[in-house]
Amino acid sequence: MNLDEKTIQELVTEVLNSKKYRKTGLNPATVADLVRQEMHKHTSIKTALKAVKRKLHNVVAPYLGEPDYAGLSLKLAQINDDALDSEPLRTFCLDVLSQHASTAERIPLMTDFYHQLFEFTGKPNTILDLACGLHPLAFPWMGLPTTVHYYAYDIIQQRVDFINLFFSKIGLAPLAENRDILVSPPTIRADLGLFFKEAHRFEKRQPGCNRAFWKSLNVDTLVVSLPTQNLSGSHSLLEVHRNLVQANLPENRRVREVLFGNEMVFIIERVMKN
Ligand SMILES: C[S@@+](CC[C@H](N)C(=O)[O-])C[C@H]1O[C@@H](n2cnc3c(N)ncnc32)[C@H](O)[C@@H]1O
Repeated sequence: MNLDEKTIQELVTEVLNSKKYRKTGLNPATVADLVRQEMHKHTSIKTALKAVKRKLHNVVAPYLGEPDYAGLSLKLAQINDDALDSEPLRTFCLDVLSQHASTAERIPLMTDFYHQLFEFTGKPNTILDLACGLHPLAFPWMGLPTTVHYYAYDIIQQRVDFINLFFSKIGLAPLAENRDILVSPPTIRADLGLFFKEAHRFEKRQPGCNRAFWKSLNVDTLVVSLPTQNLSGSHSLLEVHRNLVQANLPENRRVREVLFGNEMVFIIERVMKN
């Protein structure tokens, strides 16, 4: 089915105004991209729209955790000691990180995780946190100064606003942005790109899209992480996810794999040519 631009925009508006997404500030470019893709695969608007909503559910993944951002913003404002090692600040961050499955799983390993990671990559001055979720709240455990340029991208405006509030509180520049990184990959040059626990969802959204996406990034090192098992923990994803990384690896890149708990971390570096 081919649709004109006006009809596509009407469908986007319909999805954005639905009860599920109305208050989230979901990025319209994400919905438009899904509408365009699904329209080609279906013969009626009704079935295509159903497919869009199904895919969107997997992209936004509300089942991983949706905090109350208004409540959290109030709590954040009440913290007086905003130093990175302050007890109240860290307690607050841990509370936020525990509210999303991706970050909650990382909590027990956090200090080691960044220490070991930066041993491989070096301490970065500029970071792109791609499909960040609540991960920027782990900044106090990274051992980095607040002069770091920490760009964080997500498609939920509420989340992005909250992260910028947090960044300003701890003295980082508010560089979180509502951007669909698949539709508009960031072009900023960075030492380090972090693409944690999202590449497998990208494959579901658009099979094979990771290859062009990873290649487009202007980063010295790209760190891709993937879960070692499915959400219920009933089966291993080690082989499937190793294959995913190999299949999407751009040319002239070397990859090293490190295991942190149930997260497999792939450190992808440019191979220098002589
Ligand atoms: C599974 S969570 C991972 C969070 C984080 N990377 C971590 O591992 O802690 C995925 C996050 O990516 C965001 N997301 C999904 N697709 C995206 C896209 N195309 N561009 C930007 N953000 C995206 C979702 O809104 C969600 O917050």
